[in-house]
Amino acid sequence: MSDVGAQAASGAAGAAESGVGRLPDPAANGYRDTWCGRVLPDRVDDEVRVAGWVNRRRDHGGLIFIDLRDRTGIVQLVFHPDTSGAAFELAHKLRAEDVLSARGKVVRRDEETINPALPTGEVEVAVAGAELLADSETPPFQIEGYADDVGEDTRLRYRYLDLRRAPMREALVLRHRLTAAMREFLGAEGFVDVETPVLTRSTPEGARDFLVPSRQQQGSFYALPQSPQLFKQLLMVSGFERYFQIARCFRDEATRADRQAEFTQLDVEMSFVEADDVIAINERMLSHVFEAVGGPEIEIPMQRMPYREALDRFGTDRPDLRFGLELVDLGEALRGTEFKVFRSVLESGGSIRGINAGKREVPRKDLDGFISRAQELGAKGLVWAFREGEGWRSPTAKFLSEAELAELNRLLGAEEGDLLLLVADKRPVVNAVLGQMRLDLGERFGLIDESENRLVWIVDFPLFLYDEVEKRFDAMHHPFTAPAGALDPDDPGAALSQAYDVVWNGQEIGGGSIRIHSAEVQQQVFAALGIDAETAKARFGFLLEALRYGAPPHGGIAYGIDRLVQRLAGVETIRDVIAFPKTASGFDLLTGAPAPVDAAQLREVGVAIHKSGKAGH
Ligand code: AMO
Ligand code: AMP
Repeated sequence: MSDVGAQAASGAAGAAESGVGRLPDPAANGYRDTWCGRVLPDRVDDEVRVAGWVNRRRDHGGLIFIDLRDRTGIVQLVFHPDTSGAAFELAHKLRAEDVLSARGKVVRRDEETINPALPTGEVEVAVAGAELLADSETPPFQIEGYADDVGEDTRLRYRYLDLRRAPMREALVLRHRLTAAMREFLGAEGFVDVETPVLTRSTPEGARDFLVPSRQQQGSFYALPQSPQLFKQLLMVSGFERYFQIARCFRDEATRADRQAEFTQLDVEMSFVEADDVIAINERMLSHVFEAVGGPEIEIPMQRMPYREALDRFGTDRPDLRFGLELVDLGEALRGTEFKVFRSVLESGGSIRGINAGKREVPRKDLDGFISRAQELGAKGLVWAFREGEGWRSPTAKFLSEAELAELNRLLGAEEGDLLLLVADKRPVVNAVLGQMRLDLGERFGLIDESENRLVWIVDFPLFLYDEVEKRFDAMHHPFTAPAGALDPDDPGAALSQAYDVVWNGQEIGGGSIRIHSAEVQQQVFAALGIDAETAKARFGFLLEALRYGAPPHGGIAYGIDRLVQRLAGVETIRDVIAFPKTASGFDLLTGAPAPVDAAQLREVGVAIHKSGKAGH
């Protein structure tokens, strides 16, 4: 550990300069002999040769200044009519993003022209010769500066230009450093990096599959893996003991800020372990990689919170623990209420919960806005109130007795002027609505300390969740997650699992479990999920079979790498940490994928397109 830690620390220090530790000087050739970002005061009087892109050109009457940019930074070139020779003529014609090689002597700038914003700002290169290596059309947006006014579609369409911008480059370098630190830690701990197939069969993470038609077996399809889940379990049966992979996963689902159809996991699996073992090594791994990339310091052991508690207090299993505004159950206070909205919800087994948002001034129209927001999130309505004396100032106050109001105030810990928000509905609806409104309010009232970092393991998940629409049980994680203790076939809803999620400031960054390693238990779980023996055999027969050939107890985890980098880089969406991401509707604006294919190709794979262009029935 200590060796690994020391290496990481020096890596982080070097990284300040170039992003990937110390970049070796480029081998001198006709293009360059140093980096733009290395033309520092210690090089004064040296002859240097640099190459890169024209970041900016300024014409100061007699002199022309070019900011030349490469991956390491920007250096100023000065072209002088008397000393730059033919290069001076060239400088006149240079435009943004032209590619240039230039040589000259490093000179100190005059005091008043020093640019403290640039590491190279105390010096400049007095150009003696230059060569235009490639010219650029006028780019669709300015590379310099990170203008918010450039639409994302344009950035994605010209991604190769967008990636010239420093924030994009830094995000991708950070990503590289993160995965390098992961490999470093896991390698030192004896994990073996094994690749698993991309052309495979449907894997069950609960999303839609991407399908690839087979040319050789017409009418049959590969599915792209939603995760390497089944393969990593097979590797445990094979005796690999410790596996990892930085794996591409594919899920045909709507893209969101932190969701792409194609994303990357750090996937990990271990044998002869219990949940505590997996959690412990993962805490050390997170601590190592965060240290290596300048992430937050992690207190080990990390906090753990049972799923039930997370839902009760925060309405969600990915709570943001950086602020309060916890949900409070108010059913007890309203047991015998005359207010029909509340009474009918309680009579039908629903719940009434509230948030004390603290002493706030909120204009009436914003209170109405809270109601619409609650409705948009799925509630039928929302009660707002301000504590006033022993009762409430609220349109709903008149429906509630003095005793009820007093009890509600007590349960909510309401003091004079506190804003209270209540929702009554089925429990999952109340949680979803108030859980989200809590986040909205936290932001609105500035309750979130952006410099704080709260990581928490959510544990003791239910094994199954009941799907009210389909009237059946679904796996809370996936069907290979081991139950905690024996499974009661008569009451699957009561079973807990040996699963764990890791949540960072309200975002799920990873999750895993101890797996089922007995074919019998696996069959029981399939049965509880309504997957009959026939279907189980057809879809997962190979796993059931493998489990009969001596499967060790095993478990693991997978992290969303894109999400981790997004958090570490402090950007709004994972698209900003993926080199070539897709839009919300799944388009790659750069290549134009997905695109129609010609008839011959379709014939070859035995696929016909339904006339309407939609999937056939
Ligand atoms: P799960 O489905 O929870 O578990 O995925 C693990 C982690 O991957 C990230 N993630 C995503 N990131 C970006 N876009 C997506 N569409 C997306 N979906 C998931 C999340 C999530 O926590 N095989 C199991 C892991 C295991 O049991 O070991 C699995 O895939 O950060
Ligand atoms: P109504 O009787 O539907 O006019 O509702 C009276 C008040 O209760 C209004 O302020 C509604 O916004 C609020 N309300 C209605 N349904 C709910 C609910 N399910 N939870 C909380 N408040 C509600």
